[in-house]
Amino acid sequence: MTEHAIGNLDEFIDGEKELLSVGGIDIGVFRLDGEFHAWKNVCPHQGGPVCQGRIFKRVIDNLGPDKQQHGRAYDESQLHIVCPWHGAEFNIRTGIHAGIPELSLDPVEVFVRGEKVYVRVD
Ligand code: FES
Repeated sequence: MTEHAIGNLDEFIDGEKELLSVGGIDIGVFRLDGEFHAWKNVCPHQGGPVCQGRIFKRVIDNLGPDKQQHGRAYDESQLHIVCPWHGAEFNIRTGIHAGIPELSLDPVEVFVRGEKVYVRVD
């Protein structure tokens, strides 16, 4: 694993992402509530550029006993990235697919040292 500095801490806006190519690997780096999360920009479904997708709060369907939908709510604590190719949703903090827990993003180690942000890639 090789360590790469990818920028200064203040260059990463909370709630947003940066798409980078590091050591020949495309990655998405997300900053949420001050924490960093990084994933390879390859969707486990069919290889789409998942990190280029939009960020959404998790949608919670309010189903009644009749299994009919009675409105929606949004889980403020869970942000998802939605793959632009076919819409697969992944939890940005865990990388796990919203409906299929066996499916997950490929993690990239990301950390802060001093005022700089680093990743380790092969
Ligand atoms: S390639 Fe990402 S949802 Fe299909």
